Amino acid sequence: MQIIKSVEEMQTTAMQLRFGGNLISLVPTMGCLHQGHISLIQSAREKADKLIVSIFVNPMQFGPNEDFSIYPKSLESDLEKCQANGVDFVFTPSVESMYPKGFSSFVGESFVSSGLCGISRPTHFRGVATVCLKLFNLVRPDYSFFGRKDAQQCAVIKKMVHDLNIPTEVFIVDTVRDSDGLAMSSRNRYLSKLQREDALSISKALFKAKELVQDGVLNVDRVVAEIIHMLSMKRRIRVIYVQVVNNETMEIARKIESGKSMVCLAVWVDSVRLIDNIIL
Ligand code: PAF
Repeated sequence: MQIIKSVEEMQTTAMQLRFGGNLISLVPTMGCLHQGHISLIQSAREKADKLIVSIFVNPMQFGPNEDFSIYPKSLESDLEKCQANGVDFVFTPSVESMYPKGFSSFVGESFVSSGLCGISRPTHFRGVATVCLKLFNLVRPDYSFFGRKDAQQCAVIKKMVHDLNIPTEVFIVDTVRDSDGLAMSSRNRYLSKLQREDALSISKALFKAKELVQDGVLNVDRVVAEIIHMLSMKRRIRVIYVQVVNNETMEIARKIESGKSMVCLAVWVDSVRLIDNIIL
């Protein structure tokens, strides 16, 4: 496994791989790799000849009062996990090389990114789209992999790839959950034992919503009310949003359509912001 820090080296290495006839998979990450990332890496490994994982905590996708400066980092163990899972190249650029002084170009997707997290994190998806486009341009991956837990991010990236004719095929990989149901997230590390206990109500509420729909409840308000009720029983949880949306366009659903509708939610568990979703 080779570690690449320079933007130029990443671009020339990927170009050589392509000229050598290799199909390339890219898994963009912000590091602090957990089983959810490993599942992306394993799917990506199967698809291509060469597998590149990027590890870059992207300052552009954090708001001014968000957790950029304390975002968990674990490069050494990340590299071990990459090595153990057959990664060929890890790209770990510095902030200065990704955004040199005077950087002034941004990508804004303005439809899919406008609701849900786009309301409470108004510059987040612009940061995600910009860094992903940069990574796509540097690596030119045939295949790129993202986790369904960040459903709106997946939809934004798919839309950008479609709208801007970016030559990569985007694969969305299912959310990996801990045995207690909590969706894997690097931010779970922030949770104390008590906060984690309360956070379990997130997946419980989502599973309950799915159950209701399976039992024939197709009324959006009823399903949303049940989720909010379950979450609001927990002292440490404050709901940011709970919404039923179309799982491709992220448009608000007026009625639940099995397999096409998704409940997305974001909550604060004290000062830890968590998101999760489930396809109904
Ligand atoms: O999901 C993430 O970890 C990040 O948003 C991504 C896609 C790596 C872009 O920084």
